[in-house]
Amino acid sequence: MKAIVVEPPTRGVTVKDININISTLANDEVLIKTIATGICGTDRGIVSGLLKFSRPPVGKKELILGHEGLGQVIELGSEVKGLRKGDYVVPIVRRGCGKCSNCLVGRQDFCETGEFVEAGIRGLDGFMREYFIDKERYLVKIPDEIRDIAVLLEPLSNVVKAYNELMFCQRRMIWWCNDGSYNCRNVAIIGSGPIGNLFAMIFISQGFNVYILNKRDPSPTESFIAEKIGATFINTLKSLTLTKLDLIVDTSGHPMAFIPLINKLNKNGAVILFGTTGEEYATLTADLVTFLVENNILIFGSVNASKEDFENGVNFLSIWKSRFQTVLNKMITKVVKPDESESVLTKKPAGEIKTIISWV
Ligand code: BGC
Ligand code: ZN
Repeated sequence: MKAIVVEPPTRGVTVKDININISTLANDEVLIKTIATGICGTDRGIVSGLLKFSRPPVGKKELILGHEGLGQVIELGSEVKGLRKGDYVVPIVRRGCGKCSNCLVGRQDFCETGEFVEAGIRGLDGFMREYFIDKERYLVKIPDEIRDIAVLLEPLSNVVKAYNELMFCQRRMIWWCNDGSYNCRNVAIIGSGPIGNLFAMIFISQGFNVYILNKRDPSPTESFIAEKIGATFINTLKSLTLTKLDLIVDTSGHPMAFIPLINKLNKNGAVILFGTTGEEYATLTADLVTFLVENNILIFGSVNASKEDFENGVNFLSIWKSRFQTVLNKMITKVVKPDESESVLTKKPAGEIKTIISWV
């Protein structure tokens, strides 16, 4: 079958025929035909050789790329209870170490040993191939009604997790407004890629005021999305007439993008760190430390997601499909075939929000 293959830590990517046996299934396994796979910064980091933690499965040289998948069930093992042939499914990415308490209860997104594997990223083959076999426990069932946007579920699951962590941590005091909603709370989201826009949607849905920040004017698609969901897009090079903030969400990974905004935070505010990059330096001044301390500012990083976060993401996609109509479809700015994937895996197409590979 056709697959998209890398050899981390070596840079480069190839589309080639690989020989994988898909004729036998264990009792708890499912054979899945890949429908679509999303491309994100992690994939491009692996292809460019810059993402240092990427590695092939033990004993192999090659890794099949792809962690944002959507597929359709073709065949079921004898003990699979919750799926039928023809069902759409999204696989979760991370598989636990089997040792630490979090992994043992399905919270491998909080693995403590670091010995987990991630499909298409580290130690486990991913979903950029025509077919894959996975265990039922790693598959999230997708209602047919959202199959056109379900390839966005994996990145969304990460956003749902971070949102839930924030709301859990902010129970440290009363953070809701005096009408019992979050209508008085202002969120600045740094970055207008898929993650930035999904964060915008989740905070809008929960009643927050949302500002999407970038160092440029919005593309036509970004303007459309911001307007349709009710967020304000701000070009920070032109204006920084930002109101006081209650939350900063950084999706850029650039310390110099969010550090200068921290002193705009109200008391008891928070910063969610989501993006990552390399080789950039910033200074943490004692004045800033004082500000963080004096104002009870919460800063946390968040990675990956639990299966429950995927399930909640399914609910959000269903609701948003009617509330924001075509917005989620518009986020898919380019669809390519596997044979054309090398160029989009090495370079971000102009105007990209989310590029996907269509396998059907
Ligand atoms: C994926 C996560 C993964 C992370 C780090 C992201 O692109 O969406 O599931 O944990 O990369 O490997
Ligand atoms: Zn990703």
